[in-house]
Amino acid sequence: MSGNIPILISGTGSYAPEGILTNADLTRMVDTTDEWILSRTGIRERRIAAPQELTSDMAIHASRAAMDAAGVKPEEIDLVLVATITPDMPFPSTACIIQNRLGLRPVPAMDIEAACSGFLYVLEVGAAMLRSGKMRHALVVGSEKLSSIIDWEDRSTCVLFGDGAGAVILSRGENTGEGVLSTTLGSDGRGGEILYMPGGGALCPPTPASLADRQHFLKMNGKEVFKIAVRVMEKAALEILAEHNLQPSDVALVIPHQANVRIIELLSSRLGMPMEKFAVNIDRYGNTSAASIPLALDEAVRAGQVKKGDLILMVAFGAGLTWAASLIRWH
Ligand code: ACO
Repeated sequence: MSGNIPILISGTGSYAPEGILTNADLTRMVDTTDEWILSRTGIRERRIAAPQELTSDMAIHASRAAMDAAGVKPEEIDLVLVATITPDMPFPSTACIIQNRLGLRPVPAMDIEAACSGFLYVLEVGAAMLRSGKMRHALVVGSEKLSSIIDWEDRSTCVLFGDGAGAVILSRGENTGEGVLSTTLGSDGRGGEILYMPGGGALCPPTPASLADRQHFLKMNGKEVFKIAVRVMEKAALEILAEHNLQPSDVALVIPHQANVRIIELLSSRLGMPMEKFAVNIDRYGNTSAASIPLALDEAVRAGQVKKGDLILMVAFGAGLTWAASLIRWH
């Protein structure tokens, strides 16, 4: 039955731009301190792409690394999915741009936008399409150039975000019980106004007035996002574990979306799981939205933190509002 086809993460890759923006650098740009940023968020520095370095460029670096790790050649890829809120341009999709530049066959390629939950959304869509039985390997990417939509004069948001990319190759496997066990996705559009970017779409096309009014930058009510994030991540994590009759203690490693280390610490205490079980790299990258989970996953895999048989829980929330959790039995 196609529903039983195991879907494995057969390779991971990531990329972070060379440019580093430290908290000390930010103190010269806005009224802030290293102490405030570190104590409120856990962030020490973030990577910032060069002006000519685009979301697609970062995605391509991460994709090549993932294909190498999986031992999958470009001509073997059957599907390209990219999660991003910072595509190179509204269209064509970043997925089509990288399909062309990686020299892939003329396979389906599309972007999906679910903000910081985006990677788990594309993971689920990719797994479902592979399970339909027609495809063998999917390239699934989260890539963001958030520095292009950050208001560098707004201290309440500019200290939080960074640029980067992560990718995985999803492949059909052989052994049931291995790979992506399941993913749960959710959204509540009523929360749209606490995290959004008003400008750039049909609502607010670019005009001199919209530019002067700073409408083309991300806006956020951080306090509200924080409260909801903790609640929905805990709920999504417990629901997906219950679906499989598993307990938090069965999980070897949690890869949470990296938005604020205090959110991760609260999740750790509410799930009753020690912080040592949480992959945390927010100190070095800040919040890279759709890139944060695949970037942290790739670092964990390359550091040897993930072993065959381990149960991995990935959990995210983001603008929309959206949330997602995914359980993987590593093969
Ligand atoms: N430096 C110094 N002071 C600051 C800064 C700064 N960078 N930013 C805000 N402040 C001030 C505020 O102005 C406020 O001052 P006031 O009390 O005089 O008004 C004070 O610090 C406290 O601000 P709070 O908003 O209460 O700070 P809080 O402890 O809530 O932390 C933060 C703010 C870090 C933004 C937190 O709310 C947070 O992390 N929220 C979640 C953000 C998040 O997860 N975003 C995910 C986005 S996901 C996606 O889809 C893109």
